[in-house]
Amino acid sequence: MQVGAQTTFPTTVEVDLIFPRNDTYAPSTLFPVVFAFQNAALAPSLDPSLSFLLWDNTFDHAKDYKVNLKSTNFTTEPTFVYMFISTLNTTADGAPASYSVSWELGQHNCSHHGILPFQNIGGGFRGTGVTFTIANGAPEPDLVEATTNSTLCTDASYFAFNLTGILDGSSGQYDGRNTCAVLSDVQPLVDGDPCAVHVDSAAASSISAALTATACTYDNPVVSCPSKQNAAAADTKTGFPAMLSGFVAALVAMQLL
Ligand SMILES: *[C@@H]1O[C@H](CO)[C@@H](O)[C@H](O)[C@H]1NC(C)=O
Ligand SMILES: *[C@@H]1O[C@H](CO)[C@@H](O)[C@H](O)[C@H]1NC(C)=O
Ligand SMILES: *[C@@H]1O[C@H](CO)[C@@H](O)[C@H](O)[C@H]1NC(C)=O
Ligand SMILES: *[C@@H]1O[C@H](CO)[C@@H](O)[C@H](O)[C@H]1NC(C)=O
Ligand SMILES: *[C@@H]1O[C@H](CO)[C@@H](O)[C@H](O)[C@H]1NC(C)=O
Ligand SMILES: *[C@@H]1O[C@H](CO)[C@@H](O)[C@H](O)[C@H]1NC(C)=O
Repeated sequence: MQVGAQTTFPTTVEVDLIFPRNDTYAPSTLFPVVFAFQNAALAPSLDPSLSFLLWDNTFDHAKDYKVNLKSTNFTTEPTFVYMFISTLNTTADGAPASYSVSWELGQHNCSHHGILPFQNIGGGFRGTGVTFTIANGAPEPDLVEATTNSTLCTDASYFAFNLTGILDGSSGQYDGRNTCAVLSDVQPLVDGDPCAVHVDSAAASSISAALTATACTYDNPVVSCPSKQNAAAADTKTGFPAMLSGFVAALVAMQLL
C-alpha cells in the first residue's frame, strides 16, 4: 500500500466475524468460519493477527487456532479470510450442541512511533465472540443468507479501528510490513458496520469450493473429493484453481477432535 492522496484520514479499518452468527445450523462436515476485512487496502498497516478459540460448550472442551495473515492478499474489497472446522455435530444422541467462537485480533499501533524505541509499536490483542447451536433439522450454513438478513447482523462481532494516518516505509521495518497504522489516541475503536458486508452467491461458491479443495489435500478427507487424475488439474499442492484466487485470502483448516 502506498500512502496515496486518495486516502483521507481519519478512516476506519474493520475486521468482522461474518460467519457464524448467533444462530442455529445443521450438523456439517466443513463448517465455515469467515472473517471480512473492510477498507482492506489499509489492513496491512495494522499487521493484523487473528487467533481463535472454539469452545465446545456442550462437551466442555476448547481448541485454539492461529490464523497466519502474513501472506494474505488484501487487494479485494472486502477481503474474506476463511477456514473450516472439520465436522460440527449435535450430541451423540442428537440433542442440540452449543459452541462459541471467541476470537482475538492483534494489531500494530504506531501512534507513539519514535518516542520510545522498541516500544513504539504498541497495540495488543482484543477479544470478542459469538455463540451458536448445531441442531438436527436446522438450516445448513449459508453465507449468503447470513449476510443478507440484517436481523442476524445486529449482534455480529467486529473491531473497527480509527486510523489517523499511516507511517510509510519500504523495507518492511514494521514487522515485515511497509506501513504502520497510527491509531487515534482519542477514539481508537469506533462503531463499525459489519452489516455492510454481503457474500454473494459467486463468492459463497468460491469459498465453499476452496474449503473443499483444502479438505481434499488431507489424508482421509471428510468430504468426497475428485479422483487424483482430476485433482491434478487443480494443482492442490501449490494453490487453488485460478477462478478462486480473487477470494482465497487465507485458508486454514481446523480439526475439532
Ligand atoms: C443470541 O440469540 C439468542 C436467541 O435469539 C438470544 O437470546 C441471545 O441473547 C443472543 N446472544 C447474543 C450474544 O447476542
Ligand atoms: C452427526 O452424527 C450422526 C450420529 O452419529 C451421524 O449420523 C452424522 O453423519 C453426523 N453428521 C456429520 C455432518 O458428521
Ligand atoms: C497506541 O499506543 C499508545 C502508546 O503505547 C497507547 O497510548 C494507545 O492507547 C494505543 N492505542 C491503541 C488503540 O492500542
Ligand atoms: C431473518 O432472520 C430472522 C431470525 O432468524 C427470521 O425470523 C427472519 O424470518 C429472517 N428474515 C428473512 C427475510 O429471511
Ligand atoms: C477518530 O480519531 C480522530 C482523531 O483522534 C477523532 O477526531 C475522530 O472523532 C475519531 N472518529 C470517531 C468516529 O470517533
Ligand atoms: C493480489 O491480488 C491481485 C488481484 O487479484 C493480483 O493482481 C496481485 O498479483 C496479488 N498479489 C499477490 C502478492 O499475490
